Amino acid sequence: MPHETLTITDNRTGKTYEVPISHGTIHSTDLRQIKVSDTDFGMMTYDPAFMNTASCKSTITYIDGDVGILRYRGYPIEQLAEHSSYLEVAYLLLYGELPTAPQLASWEAEVQKHTFVHENVKKIMEAFRYDAHPMGMFISTVAALSTFYPEASRIFDPEVRNKQVLRLIGKVPTIAAFSYRHIKGMPYIYPNNDLSFIQNFLNMMYSIGSPRYEVPAIFEKALNILFILHADHEQNCSTSAMRNVGSSQVDPYSATAAAAAALYGPLHGGANEAVLKMLDQIGSLSKVPDFIEKVKKGEGRLMGFGHRVYKNYDPRAKVIKKLAYDVFAVTGTNPKLEIALELERIALEDEYFVKRKLYPNVDFYSGLIYQAMGFPMEFFPVLFAIPRTSGWISHWQEMLLDPDQKIARPRQIYLGSDARDFVPMAKRR
Ligand code: CMC
Repeated sequence: MPHETLTITDNRTGKTYEVPISHGTIHSTDLRQIKVSDTDFGMMTYDPAFMNTASCKSTITYIDGDVGILRYRGYPIEQLAEHSSYLEVAYLLLYGELPTAPQLASWEAEVQKHTFVHENVKKIMEAFRYDAHPMGMFISTVAALSTFYPEASRIFDPEVRNKQVLRLIGKVPTIAAFSYRHIKGMPYIYPNNDLSFIQNFLNMMYSIGSPRYEVPAIFEKALNILFILHADHEQNCSTSAMRNVGSSQVDPYSATAAAAAALYGPLHGGANEAVLKMLDQIGSLSKVPDFIEKVKKGEGRLMGFGHRVYKNYDPRAKVIKKLAYDVFAVTGTNPKLEIALELERIALEDEYFVKRKLYPNVDFYSGLIYQAMGFPMEFFPVLFAIPRTSGWISHWQEMLLDPDQKIARPRQIYLGSDARDFVPMAKRR
């Protein structure tokens, strides 16, 4: 019977230590006993960017990046994308099981009750500059919600917590749509709770009075699938931000705003915007080989390619690529598609990308669909933030209820000056 332990010999002292292995990991604090002297703080691990550190135990999302598997609560992403609705998936992420028909109906009704925002939230949004980035507006407005619901700070009261869950999921589409209307200089459209979650969002985006806006069926289908695919992705940068900030026991609106800020960056949720800018910059099929050569020389990255976890085709990208054809069949092809397909064709054969296991990720094709649906590029990260909100709060709740968790506080390796005396201004060089 093999021992579930790891034996470590410290060659500095010749001492040997045995530490337990659990779920294929060792507890980093078990390393602290490894010391060269009594005053030594003890051994730590150095892991910038958390390349090999599990920061939590989770039962929400499973990824096997080597083979390209993504499951929410055990259900393959492909099956969820084909058979469920976004709100059904949000329920699954939050409560652990797929809802029954009555549970889903009551969940949808509960979320719908919370789609409206306080009039002063609207006024806050109106105060942004006419050309404010919608993601900046989204982040700030979500943070501002904490001032409207001060009871949200009672995070260990399950009823209060669930109320904020409903508010967040219900209100983020409204805030998102208001940010879009703002940059377009159009009046904000209030929620219409006779519509489905997705229809209501699209109506708040695109309705212009008469004739009544009819949500194209393919748009509803596409957005539903895209929202499902974006709902969670375990310990990514923004979810880690949510857990980290939430570990200080701040209210969920402030933590969600922090997560959304992390999502805004071009290496995370801003990547689909960056993909379209890259496709625009390439301009035509004939320029693709030149562009690939530049990337290989280190002059920029092939945006929408590569992933910290997937070393195979991102399963979400497969679903999205197929969906792109369904959308383009109705909207007409996005002319950038052929550039994207050519980039993918070359990259999947090219030694540079093959060796580094760089495959298309979720962002490679999603921007093309969003653009075909009329969303402006700067709005793409907001479209990511709406569904990811359900993932963020699922992780936030899991973190709060996990007895292993405490306030997040990494260590550092201090390499600065030793103690030295203050130098008066006149003596400084
Ligand atoms: N184009 C060209 N080379 C790349 C790319 C790329 N997109 N991604 C990684 N590499 C190279 C990188 O230069 C490095 O090469 P070398 O070993 O010679 O130095 C090697 O591959 C490993 O890269 P890394 O930066 O160490 O990998 P990482 O795990 O830190 O980064 C990543 C992951 C997603 C930030 C990165 O692949 C990237 O910048 N991709 C482009 C941005 C993008 O599409 N982001 C969306 C991610 S998926 C959605 C989301 O999570 O929000």
